[in-house]
Amino acid sequence: MSELKGLILSGGKGTRLRPITHTRAKQLVPVANKPVLFYGLEAMAAAGIREVAIIIAPETGPEIKAAAGDGSQFGLEITYIEQDAPRGLAHAVLCAESFMGASPFVMYLGDNLLRDGITELVETFKREQPDALILLTPVPDPQHYGVAEVDNGRVVRLVEKPKDPPTNLALVGVYMFTPSIFEAAREIEPSWRGELEITDAIQRLLDRGLRVDPHVVHGWWKDTGQVQDMLEANRLILDDLEPEIEGEVSDCRVEGRVRIEEGARVERSTIRGPAIIGAGSRIVDAYIGPYTAIGNDVTIERAELEHSIVMSGSEIRDLDHRVEASLIGRDVRIGRGPRVPRAYRFVVGDSAEIAIL
Ligand code: TTP
Repeated sequence: MSELKGLILSGGKGTRLRPITHTRAKQLVPVANKPVLFYGLEAMAAAGIREVAIIIAPETGPEIKAAAGDGSQFGLEITYIEQDAPRGLAHAVLCAESFMGASPFVMYLGDNLLRDGITELVETFKREQPDALILLTPVPDPQHYGVAEVDNGRVVRLVEKPKDPPTNLALVGVYMFTPSIFEAAREIEPSWRGELEITDAIQRLLDRGLRVDPHVVHGWWKDTGQVQDMLEANRLILDDLEPEIEGEVSDCRVEGRVRIEEGARVERSTIRGPAIIGAGSRIVDAYIGPYTAIGNDVTIERAELEHSIVMSGSEIRDLDHRVEASLIGRDVRIGRGPRVPRAYRFVVGDSAEIAIL
C-alpha cells in the first residue's frame, strides 16, 4: 500500500454559524482555546500521517493558511488546495485527486471533533484493506443523519436522512478511502441541494460491488456546525482539561479543573472549573463558571459567565445578570453605557442573536 495521506475539508460556507462566519472560518473558532481545525491536524499526526492537504475556500483560505502554516507545528507537511465554491464533500475529494495520486487517504471534516482520534481507525484500515471504511456512531435521532445499513460486518447501503431508519448508525465526519473513490465521485450527479454528496459516492462504491467496512466509534464525536454544538464540543474538551495555574491569581476562589494561562490576571473572582482563561486576559470582580473558555486578552469585570466561549480581545463589563450558553466573537464589547436615558444601545452585525431578560 502507498503511504497513507490526509485530507481535511476546511472550505464551505458555515451559514449555520453566522454571524461568527461572516468574518472568520468556522474551522478556526476556538474550542477550549484551540481552533477546531487543529484537533483534526493533531489527530492525523498522532496516527502517523505526514502529508496532508487542506481544502480551502477563496474567502477564508488565507486565514486558514495563516493559522496552520506549513504544518511543521504539528509535525505535518500541509498543502493547500482551493475549491472555487462549496460544491459538496465529494467535489472536495475530486479537488484533491492529483495530490493523492495512488495513495489511500483519510478524509476529515475540518469542523468535526473525535474524542479518541483516528489512530485505531487508520490501523484497522491498513490491516483489513477494504476499498473504503466509514465511521459510524449510534445516535438517538438517526432520521437527521446519513445512516448506514450494515450486514455481516459490511456496509450494504447508505441512506440520507431516512424517515424510517434501518439502523441508528449515523455517519461521522471521518472516512478512509482508496483511489476508487475518485471514479465514484465522477459518476454521481449533484443532489437536490446542488452538491456532490459523499454518501452518493460511497453508495456508488457499494453498487459496483466494492467493499466498504463500518467502524463504530464509542468515544464522543461532535460536528461543530452550529452554536449549540460548538458549546457542547467546548464542554466535552474542557471535561478532560489538565489544570494549571500560570497566571497571577489574587484574592480568588479557584475550584475544580481550571487553567489560567501565563500573563492572565484574576482578581477578587470565583473561577469554577472546568474552565480556561487565556494569556493576557483580566478577570476582576467576576464569576467564571463551569465549561467556559475565555480567549486571550479578554477583559471580564463585574460580570458572571458560564458555559460560554469568549474569543480574543473582547470585553464584558458591569452586567446585572449572568451570561450563559453564549458564543462571543473577537473584539466584542458588552457593557453598560454611562449615559441616560437608561436604554439598550446596540451596534450589532448581520445575523447576530441577542436574548435579554
Ligand atoms: P458542512 O458543515 O456540511 O457545510 P458548510 O461549512 O458549508 O456549513 P453550513 O451548512 O452551515 O453552510 O461542511 C462540513 C465541512 O466540510 C466543513 O469543514 C466545510 C467543509 N466543506 C468543504 O470544504 N467543501 C464543501 O464543498 C463543503 C460542502 C463543505
